[in-house]
Amino acid sequence: MRILSGIQPSGALHLGNYFGMMRPAIELQEKGETYYFIADYHSMTSLFDAAERRKNSWDVALDFLACGLDPAKSVFFRQSDVPEVTELSWLLSTVTPMGLLERCHSYKDKTAKGVPVNHGLFAYPVLMAADILLYDSNVVPVGRDQKQHVEVTRDVAVKFNEIYGPTFVVPEPQIRDEVAVVPGTDGQKMSKSYGNTIEIFGDEKVLRKKIMSIVTDTRTPAEPKPDADKNNVIQLLKLVAPSAVASDYETRLRAGGLG
Ligand code: ADP
Ligand code: TRP
Repeated sequence: MRILSGIQPSGALHLGNYFGMMRPAIELQEKGETYYFIADYHSMTSLFDAAERRKNSWDVALDFLACGLDPAKSVFFRQSDVPEVTELSWLLSTVTPMGLLERCHSYKDKTAKGVPVNHGLFAYPVLMAADILLYDSNVVPVGRDQKQHVEVTRDVAVKFNEIYGPTFVVPEPQIRDEVAVVPGTDGQKMSKSYGNTIEIFGDEKVLRKKIMSIVTDTRTPAEPKPDADKNNVIQLLKLVAPSAVASDYETRLRAGGLG
């Protein structure tokens, strides 16, 4: 089984990246042939500072290695070191219906937020399809936000195979329900582009300040909070603390007496 995933060098890696993608990817090293890469071409759709991209690429490599990616077990590479992926991206684009790309949430969300969108952002899923199909990947471990992109990849592979004969392996996304969407400090999905991240290797003082200023709710400490499981501090605590510690906080919030 061939397993492949990528991560953009668009900023410091955070707990969403770690639990949603990196940890599953690292564990999968024991289950098959793993290919992981730094998606620097993809980051060019939103980061226009070349020096920063170069630095981020090194930082992503260091963080991933520090978290347990083992170069003796995985092929670990930079996307742009295999430039053929852009050639494949063009070939795939000729069989990709416009409607398929127009429906992609990541593109629609950016347009809705008024972010000036470039063609690279629109065509982003086609390059991602090329990443996956180039290496005959069977399984793609990602967070839930990338599910639709893997579905586009499947559609494009099937279409290409229909037109030109069996060429590509049709891949499956692999998403862990319990960490599919790690919330950020503002309760939205944690993302480098929302400024709501908790970095994996952040400075302790800075992290403490970020965590202590998470807004939970306006109820008094005394009030019972039956929806304690929705509290994003609790959701984050469940990821990082022993389960007894997290469930103790959750129980005390539900009962009232804790704010
Ligand atoms: P970001 O949204 O911060 O730019 P990327 O798009 O580079 O992160 O995502 C890299 C990987 O991490 C992807 O597989 C993505 O699904 C996963 N991921 C990112 N944020 C989260 C999150 N908040 N919860 C779960 N998985 C996430
Ligand atoms: N789009 C992914 C993200 O932002 C990164 C990525 C690029 C990727 N190519 C990929 C992930 C191929 C999995 C497979 O998270």
